Amino acid sequence: MRWTERQLAMLKEMGVAAFWPHRPPPATAASAPDAPPAEFRQAGAQPAEAHVLAAEAIARAERNSRFEPAGASPTPGESPARVAPPAARPPARLAKPAPIAANASGTVSSGAPEAQLGPRPVGVETMEWPALREAVAGCQACGLSQGRRQTVFGTGHEQARWMIVGEAPGEQEDRQGEPFVGRAGQLLDRMLAAIDLTRSEAGPDRQVFIANVLKCRPPANRNPLPQEVAQCEPFLLRQMALVKPDIVVAMGRFAVQSLLKTSEPIGKLRGRVHEVAGVPVVVTYHPAYLLRNPADKGLVWDDLCLAREVQAQVQARRSQGA
Ligand code: URA
Repeated sequence: MRWTERQLAMLKEMGVAAFWPHRPPPATAASAPDAPPAEFRQAGAQPAEAHVLAAEAIARAERNSRFEPAGASPTPGESPARVAPPAARPPARLAKPAPIAANASGTVSSGAPEAQLGPRPVGVETMEWPALREAVAGCQACGLSQGRRQTVFGTGHEQARWMIVGEAPGEQEDRQGEPFVGRAGQLLDRMLAAIDLTRSEAGPDRQVFIANVLKCRPPANRNPLPQEVAQCEPFLLRQMALVKPDIVVAMGRFAVQSLLKTSEPIGKLRGRVHEVAGVPVVVTYHPAYLLRNPADKGLVWDDLCLAREVQAQVQARRSQGA
């Protein structure tokens, strides 16, 4: 949706011309993200446009944001999924490399050379959390294991209602062992805060679980190769099976295309609900894309609202025992 002149003027008035810019956290608590602002609740006031309310919700979330500037250590209270270097752990049982034909349906093509493949752990689909963490930490299923500082397993509540799936660790994530800690991650934190979610410790309703398609950093942040995605895929699927989230939000082309096994662009896939292994999936743009294309933040807000609606429905059904 394009902003109208009136909306732009209102946003300017509110000091939130751009969505989710970083501001230092204030001392005061914010109200609920979706509560219409007082000026829109007064008799005779114009009904608020969804995006205006959205901008306000986001502004409130920013004011309440706990994130730290780039390069800072993780937010206190978070428990980064740090893992020992692979050499320190015994290798899990190994299988032959996955056949290329069985990978992410060949849909994630980067045009880059073929990946080096090694054996991947077997029995991933029945592993519990500790075994899964060990298997990821010791994984040598592709050449990315040679260049990583450490694997990036994922972080968050193991029974989270929301699961966020990104692409792959970048430099900061490779250093810190936690997903989404660079600039894109900081934006993600603000986006989550706008819908009252967090990666920091909270109950399963508010604390999300964040994981990537790839658990190791591709060198020089190049695109993941299809074979790498295929080798790593069982880990993500097992994480989804263990978390059993109400909703998965897939962010960015690689997460979206590899989860949904499609080559359709995000623009064609967003705005509806998909399903992977029985879990509803909503797709949206990657925070790194939004850093380059801030004008599309409104689209992502719409996607998050859709995900929230779906999650509420799933939760309602669950509490009715359906
Ligand atoms: N981008 C991702 O998709 N994941 C990360 O962990 C960091 C950046």
